Amino acid sequence: MDNYTGWCKKTFEATDGLDPLFRLVDGANSPLSDVTTTEKRREAYSMLLEKANIRVGIGIPVDAEFTLIEADDPYGFASETELSLFRRPMPTTNLKFLSAVMWDGRETTLLPGSTDCIQGTTLCFSPVSFDLSTQANHATLGHAEALQDLTEEQRAEIVAFESGLFTAQIHDNNAGNLAASGALGGPKELNHQNYYFGINDTLVGDYQTNKPFNPVVMSLYDSWYKFKTNKSADSAKNARAAIARGQALFNTKQIIISGVKGINDDLNVPVLPGTCTTCHNTPNSGNHSTPMPLDIGIADESRRTPDMPLYTLQNKTTNEIIKTTDPGRALITGKWKDIGRFKGPILRSVASRPPYFHDGSAADLNAVVNFYNERFNIGLNESEKADLVSFLAAL
Ligand code: HEC
Repeated sequence: MDNYTGWCKKTFEATDGLDPLFRLVDGANSPLSDVTTTEKRREAYSMLLEKANIRVGIGIPVDAEFTLIEADDPYGFASETELSLFRRPMPTTNLKFLSAVMWDGRETTLLPGSTDCIQGTTLCFSPVSFDLSTQANHATLGHAEALQDLTEEQRAEIVAFESGLFTAQIHDNNAGNLAASGALGGPKELNHQNYYFGINDTLVGDYQTNKPFNPVVMSLYDSWYKFKTNKSADSAKNARAAIARGQALFNTKQIIISGVKGINDDLNVPVLPGTCTTCHNTPNSGNHSTPMPLDIGIADESRRTPDMPLYTLQNKTTNEIIKTTDPGRALITGKWKDIGRFKGPILRSVASRPPYFHDGSAADLNAVVNFYNERFNIGLNESEKADLVSFLAAL
């Protein structure tokens, strides 16, 4: 299957960059780009062509705790009223497992007194189906440039349609059928996977069963632990052994979590020993089962590449400065502590959608695993990295 950047490039070449995908409103690096010739369009849509990124324009909220003191935008457009944010579109499948809608949770609305509340707080959220309905309308008005709102009926139809879609890897080139020998890969099984708000919550335990948090979040390939790598075994068995080892690493390999906004500051624990599943806690799905945007450093100044804008933000009270390629959640809440925070996405079918992270900065799954290994000093060796990638590719 083509990846997204390959598909965008092919669509561009087939239509000279005139397909409706290529529009100034969100596909171009700047809404003011010159798109009069094919060559100009190739330049204007380079973020879409190279990283499958869509431009989202969001301004600094009026009551924000910070101001924008410099916008270094390679495309000459961004300002305080509209920062240019280059983000990967999120899948519209497996939505049953969502707890927050959009990378920055901007379509997740507070609803005092609802049933979906973060335990121990007064933070309660509207049902995800409501958020998806407003999201569908906002996307139609914004991206599709519609002149009027969707009707209630149209919104309900969109939500019903997308809520019934499940995607997961079915077949692996090396391991073969991902539901063979008792494994539980593939979309059919995923449809039956249990989920509710706060399932297996990392902090307080499961909201419904009250069982403590279980770091063994992934169990699709439990029945493949019996396969051992063996020179004389057939290659499919060796590939299954690698996927199972990768699953075990995801569940149990220790990661010392520090400097993550949304965890270490909010919980007031400078160092938290965890695993991949501390953050990716929803069973066999891999997102977070409550809205909990985190800053793992993807938008840090140190990772800025020349194709990305860099924003200098100043705290109105302390005068402190942060430089970031995307303030994330902070553009919704106006809070200084929310700069750089994004949600952890659903990980099923992740192999089908490179590049990764909100900005498409990791070209492939190897790059994702290398990022974590360096950011958290995990100490994965080459074969452990390969096993983890094999597992992620089988989701
Ligand atoms: C401290 C919390 C945390 C830990 C630990 C963590 N993740 Fe993540 N993960 C996130 C967040 C938050 C994002 C989204 C970040 C962004 O794009 O800004 C993410 C994104 C990802 C993505 C990209 C998905 C996509 O659609 O782009 C993959 C893959 C992933 N994580 C795998 C892992 C693996 C494998 C591990 C363990 C080695 C791990 N994560 C550990 C919080 C975490």
